[in-house]
Amino acid sequence: MNLLRGPLLAAAESPWLHRQATRRRFVRRAVSRFMPGETLDEGLDAAIRLRDQGLSSILTYLGENVGDRAEAEAVVQHYLQALDRIRRVPGLDAEVSIKLTQLGLDVAPEVACENAARIVTRARELGCRVWIDMESTRYTDVTIESFVHLRALDPRLGIALQAYLHRTRADVERLLPLGAAIRLVKGAYREPPELAMPRKRDVDQSFFALVGRLLDAQARAAGVWITVATHDLALIARVQALVASQGVPKDRFEFAMLYGIQRGEQVRLARQGYRTRVLISYGSHWFPWYMRRLAERPANLLFVLRNALPG
Ligand code: FDA
Repeated sequence: MNLLRGPLLAAAESPWLHRQATRRRFVRRAVSRFMPGETLDEGLDAAIRLRDQGLSSILTYLGENVGDRAEAEAVVQHYLQALDRIRRVPGLDAEVSIKLTQLGLDVAPEVACENAARIVTRARELGCRVWIDMESTRYTDVTIESFVHLRALDPRLGIALQAYLHRTRADVERLLPLGAAIRLVKGAYREPPELAMPRKRDVDQSFFALVGRLLDAQARAAGVWITVATHDLALIARVQALVASQGVPKDRFEFAMLYGIQRGEQVRLARQGYRTRVLISYGSHWFPWYMRRLAERPANLLFVLRNALPG
């Protein structure tokens, strides 16, 4: 793992830095590389541009750890509107991804679950998949329990699982017989080594082993859907070789990346006939999310600094 990852993830939790960064215009300019804008309109416009390049999308309205019911209610209303707007755009294959802490998980798990249920119910009516993001390990158990509960409303509902956690193999074994939709990611939070693998090599190995399990004959027979969410080109090549050797059809899984990262690769995968989805984040609460993007690749700090220079 890179040396700046820990400090940058710690900075993601600093209210002081949050206030400073969101006030600085040069930081906002740097953020725009990963985010089409702060509004739903801008998110949808980006999804339409991606559609025209053969790419599907996932829309996510930035925000986390919402501390009161009214704010969480506003987030529900936002997603209900977003789902309606998505459906009104011809040929747009866009899903949404929600965070339970943005829907009131810190207020009470029941609040988040009821709020999520309203979004999932509307999405089912519209035939649109909802994903539940995976947040820090404080929330892993409750997120998985909520997922299992909410899945009764719509079996298309999906959940992100993090390959860096030691527990994820067991979580996969639990969710696999349900035929769950799983978005596999490496994991973006600051976690202790007892819970998460600190070495990139181990995380990559875990990720590839989990993809293998989620694509094997038993998983396919159970109806598992896997979204392989990574920008790691070496891993993507290994997954491509695996599916080719096992005869997994290209419509049984998809790749996913974040908006603004490996854009050329996103288009290349789609042109090769792989289903490819881009997660578009938008909204004004971008600070902790952006710090996680910096932590993934500290070289991104150079963009922030470059934007700070005059001219
Ligand atoms: P890795 O970090 O090894 O990076 C591989 C290469 O990708 C790098 O060498 C670099 O070239 C490029 N790259 C990666 N990150 C970059 C960045 N920020 N800027 C520029 N280049 C970058 N996490 C989580 O905990 N819960 C979740 O719900 C989700 N959801 C999610 C959805 C989707 C669609 C994606 C793609 C990712 C997530 N993540 C996530 C984030 C995930 O856990 C992980 O932190 C990032 O994807 C970075 O890891 P990679 O797999 O890309 O590999």
